[in-house]
Amino acid sequence: MEDQSTQVTESAVLNALKTITDPDLHRDIVTLGFVQELKICGGQVAFKIVLTTPACPVRDKMRDEAKAVVSALPGVTQVNVQMDAKVVATQGIPEKRAIAGISNILVVGSGKGGVGKSTVAANLAISLAKMGARVGLMDGDIYGPNIPLMLGITEQPIVQNERVVPVIKHGLKVISMGFFNRGDTPVIWRGPMLHSAIQQFLNQVSWGELDYLMVDLPPGTGDVQLTLVQSVPLTGAVVVSTPQDVALQDARKAIMMFKQMKVDILGVVENMSYFLCPQCHHRSDIFSHGGARKASEKFDVPFLGEIPLDVSIREGGDTGLPITIAQPESDLSKVFTRVAEQLAAQISISNFKQPSVPAVVM
Ligand SMILES: Nc1ncnc2c1ncn2[C@@H]1O[C@H](COP(=O)(O)OP(=O)(O)OP(=O)(O)O)[C@@H](O)[C@H]1O
Ligand SMILES: [Mg+2]
Repeated sequence: MEDQSTQVTESAVLNALKTITDPDLHRDIVTLGFVQELKICGGQVAFKIVLTTPACPVRDKMRDEAKAVVSALPGVTQVNVQMDAKVVATQGIPEKRAIAGISNILVVGSGKGGVGKSTVAANLAISLAKMGARVGLMDGDIYGPNIPLMLGITEQPIVQNERVVPVIKHGLKVISMGFFNRGDTPVIWRGPMLHSAIQQFLNQVSWGELDYLMVDLPPGTGDVQLTLVQSVPLTGAVVVSTPQDVALQDARKAIMMFKQMKVDILGVVENMSYFLCPQCHHRSDIFSHGGARKASEKFDVPFLGEIPLDVSIREGGDTGLPITIAQPESDLSKVFTRVAEQLAAQISISNFKQPSVPAVVM
């Protein structure tokens, strides 16, 4: 009889784990299907918690909480929690992926040129990859590609079975028109060519399995955006802005455009947000500050964070060694990590808005 009263059951463990809520998805981790491979052997309990992204800032906290609540159950002598991540695909069901193997396609855009889209896209992509995600970066700037220079890519991609193999650099799978157009010759293609170039980037490249494919858009509200929206289901858009009024006006235009195209806005990033003097650490708000946050509140879209103006960010772009690679432990790299975590959370939230929540697998 004594044995029975202390017998550990699956329902007792799951009920205990139901008290843990995902902070972004606002539902408990059992209902969300995060708890998998639950095994009970006497007093020993083992299970996996499968998160929606490896870029989860509360990963360790969730593991500790899970361990604590299960350890507190009568009869439990040992708890083994394994943390894992499986990025949810847009529309939740794999059959609906427009490109086999790619779970999420996100675009990084702005209304205005030169606000740091490519810099932000490259550093966010690297940050996600460093956290364990499988990430691709597609240079959507067909006329003025600068991703190769920014990442220091000099090699040409190879062609295998009539498909282009992306170049792997800094942990990313990269494709850019710059690979096919070496030298300073400008690409003077027009509309239809641009459309087919984007189509080829999407469909004729061996991307393999990707959690996130990030597309660095050219400035403005133009044809590339339209081609992408018409060709593949996009998870959403990241809008980059600087804090000046004029840039914010353009950011608003970009937000409106994406909304009109029914593209979810994953969030707004304020780049060149403030300047920290490397000598005296005084902070100056060169282009004023906080405008992008206000704009995102006004449009009711998430705000992902602020990236300072810093000479090492510019140098990273010029030398082919982005800051997140050149100085991975710096405060600046940590800023990008935090923005990447926010972005990954918004992607998970966006994908979980659909009704199909995976069932508990045991
Ligand atoms: N936070 C930052 N601090 C310092 N320099 C930055 C920062 N962000 C971007 N830059 C620099 O600003 C310039 C423009 O950045 P970038 O090329 O990323 O902008 P973009 O929006 O992609 O431009 P385009 O519209 O031409 O595609 C680059 O020289 C880049 O190194
Ligand atoms: Mg750019």
